[in-house]
Amino acid sequence: MDNFVEEVLLNHDQIVEASSRLGKVLTEEYKDKFPILIGLLKGSVPFLAELIKHIDCDIELDFMQVSSYRGVKSTGTVVMLKDIVTSVKDRHVLLVEDIVDTGLTLKEVMHVLDDRGAKSIEVVTLLDKPENRVVEMKPKYVGHTIPNKFVIGFGLDFNEKYRNLNYIGVLKESEYKK
Ligand code: IMP
Repeated sequence: MDNFVEEVLLNHDQIVEASSRLGKVLTEEYKDKFPILIGLLKGSVPFLAELIKHIDCDIELDFMQVSSYRGVKSTGTVVMLKDIVTSVKDRHVLLVEDIVDTGLTLKEVMHVLDDRGAKSIEVVTLLDKPENRVVEMKPKYVGHTIPNKFVIGFGLDFNEKYRNLNYIGVLKESEYKK
């Protein structure tokens, strides 16, 4: 185990297995809908890449990058750094996330896409940390529900590091308190 990791929460096989399970469900539910999968940069990239290998119907891909500034804990202001290029009007949208934590980022993004006339908007996330939610947000498609711990790997970073790990681990406290 890497020396900065407290505990491995999901190994690579478990991530692939969760992605495969979700891919099968999405194939069933979206087979005639030509959905747009919108990956939220940067963290969703490894999961999105794995997930789409298991989706066996036509899909479109696009990407959005947002950044959340949280001066006050219970409110979140989301700034759009990169917008999608596709029109979502009358389209079925699947927002792809690495993790849902407070829910603030997705709430904002869903508002934007709703205003633009998306036909449906659902969330597919590799990880869900419901204990830390500050707004009502229930992702429909979840890989694994995890405890309220700071995790890294498979897209998830700490100060931009560790996104390239092929597993999900809990970062040792000594790494961010030093
Ligand atoms: P939220 O749901 O608006 O709080 O934000 C979700 C975003 O916060 C994710 O896309 C991650 O970028 C980041 N995040 C939340 N929890 C973690 C974690 O445990 N490790 C790394 N990034 C996290």
